[in-house]
Amino acid sequence: MTEPAQRRRRRGTAEEGADPVPGEEVLTVRDLRVAFGKGPGRKQALRGVDLSLHAGKVSGVAGESGSGKTTSALAAMGLLPAGASVEGSVRYRGTELLSLPERELRRYRGRHLAMVFQETSTALNPVIRVGTQLLMAARTHAGGSRQEALRRVTEALADVQLTDTDRVMSSYPHELSGGMCQRIIIAMALSCGSRVLFADEPTTALDVSVQAEVLSVIKGLVARRHLAVLMISHDLAVLAEVCDDLAVMYDGEIVESGAVDDVLRHPAHPYTAGLLECLPRLRGPRVELPELASTVRDADHGTGCRFRPRCPWSIERCEQAPELAALDLGSSRQARCWRSAEVLASSGAAAGSRGQR
Ligand SMILES: Nc1ncnc2c1ncn2[C@@H]1O[C@H](COP(=O)(O)OP(=O)(O)OP(=O)(O)O)[C@@H](O)[C@H]1O
Ligand SMILES: [Mg+2]
Repeated sequence: MTEPAQRRRRRGTAEEGADPVPGEEVLTVRDLRVAFGKGPGRKQALRGVDLSLHAGKVSGVAGESGSGKTTSALAAMGLLPAGASVEGSVRYRGTELLSLPERELRRYRGRHLAMVFQETSTALNPVIRVGTQLLMAARTHAGGSRQEALRRVTEALADVQLTDTDRVMSSYPHELSGGMCQRIIIAMALSCGSRVLFADEPTTALDVSVQAEVLSVIKGLVARRHLAVLMISHDLAVLAEVCDDLAVMYDGEIVESGAVDDVLRHPAHPYTAGLLECLPRLRGPRVELPELASTVRDADHGTGCRFRPRCPWSIERCEQAPELAALDLGSSRQARCWRSAEVLASSGAAAGSRGQR
């Protein structure tokens, strides 16, 4: 690489420096494939995942344990353990992240992309006061004087509705509640200037009222700061509350995606339909919750559809694996099922839907 090109790469492109406009596609993941291990124990965790994150929008990822939700986020952040093999493309505002050397990638993490996990203890150092950690992160990633970093941190704390700044800054993480720690981690991402937030089950460990507060903080930031958020959860109610779009994963693949209301009101894949049927209902007569047969790991699908061994909609054609295909609904619906169009038409969602032929 020529010297000016190297310098440009170190500084980042002009595009990366400017604030994204609402709706801008800031992160594009294409055909992401991840495998862990080698030989007979090799586990193919992702089999060609596509995701698009837009400024000012929340995209959700649902799916059962082991379906590849966390692996998708970690791979996009370049945080998978050594030994994981990663193929595909992850572009942040025009820059291909998968081909960056680790040192360069570290500059993007924190400065442009941040991640919030269920466990706050992994992100906050227990023996350093919260304020010191926030200031250190802000100066490392966004630079500037201590005064400037303090201004950004104070602004970010107010933005996550932590207004008792002095007390928060002088506390150790264990002196604060789980919901407060989660908001501090989000504030850290903001004060470093991150535009993309991967939130992996951020509210799962919190009780319901605190969960609602954290979700409301995230929604506020998306609206005001035009953050692009990838919200990972096994909880469809959480996803319905905050997301604009939803992708449903099964065994390392996206099986269905589209606007969150469309997907949850009119599922076009039997796995999504099964997840929705398993939700307990508070109103109406008590019913036994159905079980989704089998698990991801013991499914034997041969060369056909990966969901076939558990599928109540299965037909002979499912011996061939369907692609994730667009459904002609005048929206961005996609599903990986031969019967999507037929099922949607019968549910009244889609007169004239095309699906896969
Ligand atoms: N470091 C690793 N080494 C080996 N296999 C792994 C590793 N991390 C994940 N996997 C495997 O990859 C698959 C996807 O895991 P992942 O953690 O992404 O699932 P998930 O959808 O986030 O599940 P959960 O809802 O339990 O968090 C699983 O089969 C898992 O066992
Ligand atoms: Mg996970």
